[in-house]
Amino acid sequence: MRKILVTGGCGFIGSNFVLHLLRTRKDLQVVNLDKLTYAGNLVNLSEIEGDPRHRFVHGDICDEALVARLLADGVDSVVNFAAETHVDRSIQDSAPFILTNVGGTHALLVAARKCKVRKFIQVGTDEVYGSLGPSGLFTEDSPLQPNNPYSASKAGADLLVRAFQRTYGMDATITRCTNNYGPFQFPEKAIPVFIGNALADRPIPVYGDGLHVRDWLFVEDHCRAIEAVMERGRAGEVYNVGGANELPNIELARLILRELKKPESLIQFVKDRPGHDRRYALDSSKLSRELGWKPLVSLAEGIPRTVRWYCEHQDWLRRVQTGEYQEYYRKHYHERHGLQE
Ligand code: NAD
Ligand code: DAU
Repeated sequence: MRKILVTGGCGFIGSNFVLHLLRTRKDLQVVNLDKLTYAGNLVNLSEIEGDPRHRFVHGDICDEALVARLLADGVDSVVNFAAETHVDRSIQDSAPFILTNVGGTHALLVAARKCKVRKFIQVGTDEVYGSLGPSGLFTEDSPLQPNNPYSASKAGADLLVRAFQRTYGMDATITRCTNNYGPFQFPEKAIPVFIGNALADRPIPVYGDGLHVRDWLFVEDHCRAIEAVMERGRAGEVYNVGGANELPNIELARLILRELKKPESLIQFVKDRPGHDRRYALDSSKLSRELGWKPLVSLAEGIPRTVRWYCEHQDWLRRVQTGEYQEYYRKHYHERHGLQE
């Protein structure tokens, strides 16, 4: 059975990707390397607990020796999700972003090269292109112009992946995706913050004038895109992954409030994020043309599905908000599985 090393598989997109692979593919097994930072949550993977095709390893992608040991055990491909991901945190303290996003990606590349891994997928972001004006789309050829420490660290990672591919001939491919939403997103990002606050009748904090535009993609569509790139993507290429669902933040807040039947008076304009990118939007025609991918879930379907998911999983939300979720590993998972550290 082909073995895939997924890093950051306990985070939002990583856990959705692990669940997607194990639900839909019988020919794959997954080694999931995750440091369990505040953003990692093993509860996300309860559905596959005990599945022999999933092995969780608690560890850091910066630990090159650990990564090399895991890879040497017959790993075919690496999909690197592991990262520090929240822009506001990167503005408060950029150091962990450089360590994990740049240093960690470098350690993975060195180990993957040493172990002759067949394929390396770097999960990247559209934020590396910087901010767009009111019209136009970023293509894979747009210049990298990151505007915050998070996006600068992701751009650094992309450049390392590119350099390892060009210099050493590694089979490495980069994806760059727009804003994801869906189940298991950590409640520090806009959509789960808006839903969680609205559910508790707390104010919805909208940054600045609320006219910043994001292009939203349902997380399952992103997972299918990464799978397509993992299977059929060309070495050395970049693939944009966009949702074609552009919305100003204020409209997003209104949409969520309507869905929850809560009043718009909950919206509160707050101080803007420094260096706040005005608009992101991608041209993903290369991914559609070459690999036949297209998004299947529109915003009209995805937002109600996501709102419903958070309404039905208020216990998940509460455990994350109170910090209880971090006990799960220590008390439950470790005892049951005698985990390898
Ligand atoms: P997340 O913050 O929800 O999860 C990150 C995961 O990585 C966590 O499980 C965390 O424990 C783990 N991790 C962090 N540092 C680690 C380290 N040093 N070693 C091992 N594991 C570590 O992130 P997400 O939103 O799921 O994003 C996943 C990836 O997708 C990131 O690379 C991000 O840049 C990229 N991305 C995210 C979005 C989005 O909208 N969320 C869009 C485009 C690209
Ligand atoms: O574009 C892809 C990127 O999308 C990913 O690479 C990042 O990892 C991911 O965090 C996301 O970045 P954003 O900064 O766009 O996402 P965030 O959810 O933090 O914010 C979305 C928009 O909403 C942004 O314009 C800021 C605004 N916002 C955010 C929060 C948390 C608010 O108005 N209020 C909030 O409380």
